[in-house]
Amino acid sequence: MPESYKILVIDDEESILKLLSKELASPERILHTANCAEAAREQIRKNRYDVIISDIRLPDGNGLELLTEFKDIEPDGEVILITGHGNIDNAVEAIRIGAYDYITKPFRLDRVELVVERAWQRVCLQRENRSYKHSQNDTASTQLIGKASSIKHIHHLISKVAPTEVPVLITGDSGAGKDVVARSIHTASRRSGKPLIVKNCATLQKELARSELFGHARGSFTGATDNSDGLMTFAHTGTLFLDEIGELPMEVQASLLRVLESHTFRRVGEKDERTVDIRFLFATNRNLTQEVEAGRFHEALFHRINVFNINLPPLKDRREDVPLLVDFFLRKLGQQMGQGEYTVSERAMQCMLSYYWPGNVRELRNVLERSIILSDNYVITCNCLPREIADQPERDSETGILSLERMEREHIIKAIDFFSGNKLKAAEALGIGRKTLYRKIDKYNL
Ligand SMILES: Nc1ncnc2c1ncn2[C@@H]1O[C@H](COP(=O)(O)OP(=O)(O)OP(=O)(O)O)[C@@H](O)[C@H]1O
Ligand SMILES: [Mg+2]
Repeated sequence: MPESYKILVIDDEESILKLLSKELASPERILHTANCAEAAREQIRKNRYDVIISDIRLPDGNGLELLTEFKDIEPDGEVILITGHGNIDNAVEAIRIGAYDYITKPFRLDRVELVVERAWQRVCLQRENRSYKHSQNDTASTQLIGKASSIKHIHHLISKVAPTEVPVLITGDSGAGKDVVARSIHTASRRSGKPLIVKNCATLQKELARSELFGHARGSFTGATDNSDGLMTFAHTGTLFLDEIGELPMEVQASLLRVLESHTFRRVGEKDERTVDIRFLFATNRNLTQEVEAGRFHEALFHRINVFNINLPPLKDRREDVPLLVDFFLRKLGQQMGQGEYTVSERAMQCMLSYYWPGNVRELRNVLERSIILSDNYVITCNCLPREIADQPERDSETGILSLERMEREHIIKAIDFFSGNKLKAAEALGIGRKTLYRKIDKYNL
């Protein structure tokens, strides 16, 4: 449970405000007071309260109205109402429209204490449920495997930046581990017990992006039949990870910048600003500098999200981690499939070490998943690997030197690939005649 929570006590009787403030004071509670509906409204909009305790009858309004307004802003917050003696009808109505409980005046302080504590527990439970619903893949890995110096450096960066509030921009090719980095930052941060909301900006529909991010008020556009919360509200107190940030529609970029700078936003169709407390993480495999130059990304937003950059190198630049990753995935996948321990033949490992892994760690994982299915007796051999991986040039096992024939074969494949199968051009580039090339293609069975 979080360390502290905020309570607003609303009553026009000064003595009650004083009494409750004094009696409810504890290290984990932050208590504010308001003596009329108007003042309460302002505070509710400005601060994020977890629980409010309000008199039903106020000089300029009533607690029931405040209840609805508060729930609108803080759907997981709870309201406790204070009613005068013999005013039970009101109290029942209050529960019906969403109050957590009511206390009757004159009240017993131990009962107030109990009700407040229970209300707070309920707030926590609701937030937790919501975060489960929104974390798309809560079994996803937070362990960044690797001992290559580039990965060690990333471990170091994560340990430094995680405890801060600084936004982090995670870059790198597809499948290189950006999600893993984002999750490990959240896990190592003070917000680890709070929601981690993940949103892939490429899936935001242009017309609805604003509403999805910031929420909307009833009737603000066709189809907005109800008030609705956006991701900013779900991520409140936690972390919002905006994946593929380069895809964020231009239209909402300025509003995101505003949240980053002033921690405030507006729902679609509302004038009032709301405050949020969110740690932001971003990821992209696009070159954002180019996007800025092309006018597709706001420069100011770019600078704001690019305060701290973690760049994941492609797997081919840290091949020494391949065996470690292979071990990790075989153990994990083996367990998931409820089977035994897998090993990898030396030759198969050689092939995986030489391959260039265009799909990075994700491709490695997928290859292993497939090879487990094809393997016999829990041994992964070249036969279990896709051809493009199994077909790595054979090297002398002692010296690692490639035979000349093997070199020639590889070289010809490269040339033909380069010219997309055009053999005439390939022969020209290789400095041999077309016929010679055909002969070699035959010889090497290409
Ligand atoms: N260093 C690592 N240690 C353990 N698992 C990893 C590592 N890097 C990547 N993975 C795993 O590989 C897969 C792909 O990684 P991830 O989803 O983080 O890639 P990404 O960079 O976010 O890719 P994309 O740009 O396509 O979103 C995931 O299953 C992830 O758990
Ligand atoms: Mg990703």
